[in-house]
Amino acid sequence: MTEIGLTWPKNFNEVPKAAFTRKDIYAEEMKRIFFGQEWHPVAHESELPNPGDFKTFRLAGVPLLIARDREGVVRVFYNACSHRGNQLETAVMGNKTEFECPYHRWLFDAKGDLVGCPNHRDFLPGFDKSDYPLAQPRFDSFYGLIFVTLSAETETLTEFLGDSQNTLRELLGGDGRLKLLGYQKVRYDSNWKSYTDNDGYHAPLLHQAFKLLNWQGGKGRQFAATKHGHVCFESALSVVSGPTVLKDDSLIAFKGQDPAVGSRIVMLFPTFVSTKHLDVINLRFATPIDEETVEVHYAYFAHQDDDEDMVLHRLRQSSNLLGPCGLISMEDASIFHRIHIGNHTPGNAIFQKGVHDQSKLESEFLQNDESGNLPRWEYYRSVMGFERAEA
Ligand code: FES
Ligand SMILES: [Fe+2]
Repeated sequence: MTEIGLTWPKNFNEVPKAAFTRKDIYAEEMKRIFFGQEWHPVAHESELPNPGDFKTFRLAGVPLLIARDREGVVRVFYNACSHRGNQLETAVMGNKTEFECPYHRWLFDAKGDLVGCPNHRDFLPGFDKSDYPLAQPRFDSFYGLIFVTLSAETETLTEFLGDSQNTLRELLGGDGRLKLLGYQKVRYDSNWKSYTDNDGYHAPLLHQAFKLLNWQGGKGRQFAATKHGHVCFESALSVVSGPTVLKDDSLIAFKGQDPAVGSRIVMLFPTFVSTKHLDVINLRFATPIDEETVEVHYAYFAHQDDDEDMVLHRLRQSSNLLGPCGLISMEDASIFHRIHIGNHTPGNAIFQKGVHDQSKLESEFLQNDESGNLPRWEYYRSVMGFERAEA
């Protein structure tokens, strides 16, 4: 038993359902995971391509402001005024070179410097504006993908990403020079871990339309990329065509640069999922809201070198294939909710497909296995301090 009173099953392929539903476990996850030693993707620089562009995001309740200054430098700030802590910016995104707090009109530039505050002659002697910039969390970036950590002890981003770097770079277009197409934003009535527990086994079974992409017959691998349990997929999807499939199969045409690897997925602990299926480049910025709600921002991208036809193709494919209303994966939204309901029953969730020995953890898996989720569960267990039951 641990201080939060949950004994983990002795077998590596079992996960207690209580981990998905208990409020005390959720509170502990905030401390140990979201405010702990993990990096969390919060934006891609291409979402704010021009000087003055900004985006806001809340990570585990913490409001963030990601802003590009006049010189083009992107920084992450806490989205809270340095005076009394009022939320500074309420827009989801926009373009501003100055941010004014409405409460007492303190004014900040996009570098985070305090550039104006009314009545400062009446402030404490020695008041100096330069002592009151917007506070910043630790942040770093990888090919334009901006990560934040809320802990001072977190390892470097390079160490955190480990062996996922190659797949992630390829997924980001090879050079990170992306162009934002748009978003789908959704709140799932589900614990955040059910959302990230989507696996390779279910893809062709739950999602009938995945057959269009020959997922089941696809040759591909999953591998665990670090001790954090990040998982990468590299799979050879192929488009099944013919008049009986879709009236217009240009929707699932594959015009991309790397048809040998039709699908790349990088799942970074704890909540980040990114996919490149066919020509769709999709980064999913997710955050838990409470123990039964997770919010996901599906962001879709083209590459800066795409011609106009390719941008239109990607836009059409992106808005139709993935996400909560996407042709190939819309059923996930229903399953995330139903699995959350089902998790209010006793016992353990069981993983079978691809498990060879329930007393051992593996790091290489096939495309259609669900065992690729197990390294992430083992890392979760260790961070949470849950001890395994004795054999
Ligand atoms: S709280 Fe922002 S100006 Fe006072
Ligand atoms: Fe799915």
